[in-house]
Amino acid sequence: MNNLFNKSISVIGGAGHVGFPLGLIFSSKNFKVTLIDKHKENIKKINSGNVPFLEEGSQSLLKLSLKKKNILATNQLNEVIKTKYIIVCIGTPITSSLNPSLKGFINFFRELKPLLKKNHVLIIRSSIYPGICDQIYKLISSKCQNLSYCPERIVQGKSISELPKLSQLVSGKNKKAIIESGKLFKTICKKIIFTEVIEAELVKLFSNAYRYVNFSISNQFYMICKSQNLDFEKIRSIMRDGYERNTNIPMSGFTAGPCLLKDSMQLSSFYDHKFSLGHSAMKINEGLPKFMVNDLEKKINLKNKTVGVLGLAFKAETDDLRDSLAVKLVKILKSKKIKTLQSDEYFKSKETIDKKILIKKSDIIIIAAPHKAYKKLKINKQKLLIDIWGFVEKK
Ligand SMILES: NC(=O)c1ccc[n+]([C@@H]2O[C@H](COP(=O)([O-])OP(=O)(O)OC[C@H]3O[C@@H](n4cnc5c(N)ncnc54)[C@H](O)[C@@H]3O)[C@@H](O)[C@H]2O)c1
Repeated sequence: MNNLFNKSISVIGGAGHVGFPLGLIFSSKNFKVTLIDKHKENIKKINSGNVPFLEEGSQSLLKLSLKKKNILATNQLNEVIKTKYIIVCIGTPITSSLNPSLKGFINFFRELKPLLKKNHVLIIRSSIYPGICDQIYKLISSKCQNLSYCPERIVQGKSISELPKLSQLVSGKNKKAIIESGKLFKTICKKIIFTEVIEAELVKLFSNAYRYVNFSISNQFYMICKSQNLDFEKIRSIMRDGYERNTNIPMSGFTAGPCLLKDSMQLSSFYDHKFSLGHSAMKINEGLPKFMVNDLEKKINLKNKTVGVLGLAFKAETDDLRDSLAVKLVKILKSKKIKTLQSDEYFKSKETIDKKILIKKSDIIIIAAPHKAYKKLKINKQKLLIDIWGFVEKK
């Protein structure tokens, strides 16, 4: 019984993009995992052996874990009383004024508190506003003091292959939380790095902000090139050719999704909204769809033209539309009453059509998400192809 209890984990937000693959990985190491989530539809899907969204390698792992009875999804929070570890992976959004929206996150711990026992090991895994761990510790410490912060650092969609290779940061409010969390993650990660809580909080936000700013540089270069009718991808390739210092300059493209902008703004809010690089990056990245439409309007009369947007997801090989700039692009085109068609390889709705029909019916085709399926597209030369990613193979 004791051994069973030591191998039991609740994952809160267990039907989400971080919680679900994490739960699967632990279940594959013979932990008994309870995925706790409010999303009833996804719970149903998981328990019937269907993955709720695209996540490489998750389908076979789910089938196996269900067969071994190592995983179960539920919406019952009180299931936490049966497990030793509680890992919290719920969302940490920002408000429209770009401040962290902390109420929902903190209220969750108010709801959890009556269920906490002295021996629970409570692990926060969401990306949080610095200092929140301390606030939560104050809230729950009369019931349980074993609170740790172990941020998730995977790239969405690749958790299962990536997590075992990444180093895992472990920080906590007491020795037991740190030791137990370290032992737990050692079962699935190669290297554990012990840090202070504030260090782990900042490592996570700095990493996302760094990527966000980095991508914005290429997006700004893309805009400069477009304004001069030049091809940024060609220039980028020359920059990198035989010149190592430029190797890491990223492709241009829509820098979107639920993490990079949000975490850059959490960081800015922490720094009194003085993270000027972050704000400039936001202006560039979020402004790219509007820039593209304005640039098109300058060069072409769009009145009787049809624009086809290929790829609606926020990045390649995902069905996730959260904070997608492709969706923003469609909205801008439609608000200007420009005839717009849309297609995606993985996300289907009443408004999406097959890529071949889109290509046939559109005068202008924009690659908004670089799904592999678009790499070798056959597009008639009379049509205008806009490839912000510099991704489509040039003939
Ligand atoms: N998506 C990523 O690639 C990624 C990577 C690293 C870190 N993160 C961070 O991880 C956190 C979660 O992100 P995500 O992308 O998995 O979000 P998500 O929306 O995909 O998943 C969150 C899940 O939590 C559930 N949930 C919300 N409140 C709940 C509650 N009170 N009780 C039970 N379930 C609840 C939701 O129904 C949802 O299924 C965020 O802080 C995010 O910044 C995300």
